[in-house]
Amino acid sequence: MPAAIDLRSDTVTRPSAAMRRAMAEAVVGDDVLDHDPTTLQLEERIAGLLGKEAALYFPSGTQANQTGIRLISRPGTEVLLEANAHLLHYEIAGLADISRVQVRPVATPDGVLTAELLRASLRPASPHVPKISAMAIENTHNAAGGKVMPVAVADGIGALAREAQLPLHLDGARLWNAATAVGLPPARLAAPATTVMVSLSKGLGCPVGSCLAFPGAARDDVWEIRKRLGGGMRQSGILAAAGLYALDHNLGRLAEDHANAKRLAAGLAGHPAVTPLPPDTNIVMLDLTRHPADAVIPKLAERGVLVTAFGPKRLRAITHLDVSAADIERAIEVIGAVLS
Ligand SMILES: Cc1ncc(COP(=O)(O)O)c(C=O)c1O
Repeated sequence: MPAAIDLRSDTVTRPSAAMRRAMAEAVVGDDVLDHDPTTLQLEERIAGLLGKEAALYFPSGTQANQTGIRLISRPGTEVLLEANAHLLHYEIAGLADISRVQVRPVATPDGVLTAELLRASLRPASPHVPKISAMAIENTHNAAGGKVMPVAVADGIGALAREAQLPLHLDGARLWNAATAVGLPPARLAAPATTVMVSLSKGLGCPVGSCLAFPGAARDDVWEIRKRLGGGMRQSGILAAAGLYALDHNLGRLAEDHANAKRLAAGLAGHPAVTPLPPDTNIVMLDLTRHPADAVIPKLAERGVLVTAFGPKRLRAITHLDVSAADIERAIEVIGAVLS
């Protein structure tokens, strides 16, 4: 039986032999004591790619996201974000525990938060209501099926943030995919945000790692929050080297993942038992019209196709660098047959 086609997440990629070699050969130091040269190199490169003054390397996107919000918010205030944001649903109430903020979710029809929706959520100052200290956006939006936030929409939110004097955090775990989809540099998409999290361990294929970019003056504060959360790492250059390798070799190929996602959706379109939602990037939501997701997933797994449930009648499939166009053809056949 051939190896399973693992569409559960773009985090399942295994580092290639060349990436492992780059990691093994990394020049390292003690990053907590007095910096690790390879980590510094990655941080400078990420800051440049995102058009920000500084960046720090983190073990995970969750820790970098939580640090971003901790930096820009104030305990006892509200943070506005989209109702299905990763920050709200998949970070184990970190905002309540670490930042001690109240989250106010803003509902959207399609995961795309807008300046209009946010403006309607602002309240006139009053001693009876919480103050808002920050806002957050997510691009691409995971739960909305890898949806890209259009540049003009992000710019509108940035303008509102400036007008309301509120810092804006961008959860850009898949900002690379968004930039690829719209054909613009990541810095352009990151421009409206004060703090930006990007992941290296998803579409870029690293085993570990995310970065948070931020204004240079915040460096000591970000360092301190990261350290408190246990994110100060020592010879982290071994991991950062994977990031540098990924920026050189894997960033430019994300369009292949998007093409594979489109191929998957197109290949299943018209099947009576599934409605694929048209993907913007590398995430395909498959709405089942006949069978519950829980019944379908083990049957697909038996035949070598792994997907996750994203609701009682919704499957999620994510393409990535360990999935080829031929794998997608096989996945279409298997999913089609199992659902029939
Ligand atoms: C949109 C988004 N933000 C943040 C994260 C958290 O990243 P990590 O798994 O590295 O903690 C994820 C992970 O899937 C994500 O999809």
